[in-house]
Amino acid sequence: MDTIFRVELDLPSRSCLLKTNDGNLIGTYPYVWLRDNCRCDKCFHPSSLGRLVTMANLDPDIIPDVAEVHAQTLNIRWPDDHRSQFPVSWLQENQFSNMSKDPVSTPVRQFWGKEMQHKIPKFSFQDILHNDKSLHDWIEALQVHGLALIIDAPHKEGAILEIGKRISILKMTNFGNTFQLYSKPGAGNLGYTNTELGLHTDMTYYAYTPNIQILHCIKQSSNGGENQFCDGYKVAEDLRHKPEVFRILSTTPIDFRDWRTDSDGNMFHMKHRSPIIQLLPDGRFKAISYCDSVRAPYIQIPVQDVYTIYQALKMFNTELYKEENIIEIKLIEGDIVSFDNQRVLHGRSGFTVTETSTRHLEGAYIDWDEACSRMRVIREQMFNQKPL
Ligand SMILES: [Fe+2]
Ligand SMILES: [Zn+2]
Repeated sequence: MDTIFRVELDLPSRSCLLKTNDGNLIGTYPYVWLRDNCRCDKCFHPSSLGRLVTMANLDPDIIPDVAEVHAQTLNIRWPDDHRSQFPVSWLQENQFSNMSKDPVSTPVRQFWGKEMQHKIPKFSFQDILHNDKSLHDWIEALQVHGLALIIDAPHKEGAILEIGKRISILKMTNFGNTFQLYSKPGAGNLGYTNTELGLHTDMTYYAYTPNIQILHCIKQSSNGGENQFCDGYKVAEDLRHKPEVFRILSTTPIDFRDWRTDSDGNMFHMKHRSPIIQLLPDGRFKAISYCDSVRAPYIQIPVQDVYTIYQALKMFNTELYKEENIIEIKLIEGDIVSFDNQRVLHGRSGFTVTETSTRHLEGAYIDWDEACSRMRVIREQMFNQKPL
């Protein structure tokens, strides 16, 4: 039998108190919030799911004339005779205590060190293309660990476009929708040479740094070309034990810049400055931004602080390269390595290019906005959830 509910108008809290018939409080719903969220066709557009009530027409002091629960629905009559109906199930889903519980937006991250070497989450390319649960689980692994491997992709360009289509769109940058990484003469970026690359995050010179990076190994060099990865959040967490170093790294903006000309002749001079460790207001990590090759010579700090900045940068770098913090993998042809570009730093060993031994990776970026959106849509379909 359905639970019977009743409602009380509580003037001191300006709220409707939804209770079971025997008096247990289900939820407190402020009058103004109920009026703002009326789901009638005049107040809420049914197909676009957009609010039609505007703040200009909303009275924060509004008080219902009548509130009653009938047949699992809260019915309200407002002073202007407007009527609102709220299913009890909808009110329960929107309880204020539950408002921050979007599991997709609040992943529980697991920091890692070298033990990750043998535990990298792996997904099959075909599964990600054809199975929504696999697609969801891959994105979730990226949220939790910041690193995941997709295996058995075709050994040709275009595989990451297929992955991008499964998310929706790739993140366009001034390298294009995708980029080809292979050794070439006169390279405008160190990534396009065959030299060793130190641990870094990409595009530190963008204010809007690409979030997820995917790199597809199409052709691997027979000599060198291993990739190194390091969980920057783990390193930053360890550095909290050195409060002064942590303070400097998390508050001193460092300048990054890059010049390049793309294949259409567009000239770019990108600049952005941000601390190496970026924090959210609650102290959790927002991003790591670190790349020696594009770090600018100028630092906008008093000259007497330069020495301590370099000490802190050196300490961060030393932590990154501790044996306990690094994993190394040599991608094989058909591997797609994916990682959170604002958390996991990546590097590459030098490699040899000969007539018979070349190396070719195709890369692209994906933003969390679209990846999380895909996760939510899959969850809504799998668990038959309606968007709130
Ligand atoms: Fe890179
Ligand atoms: Zn309405």
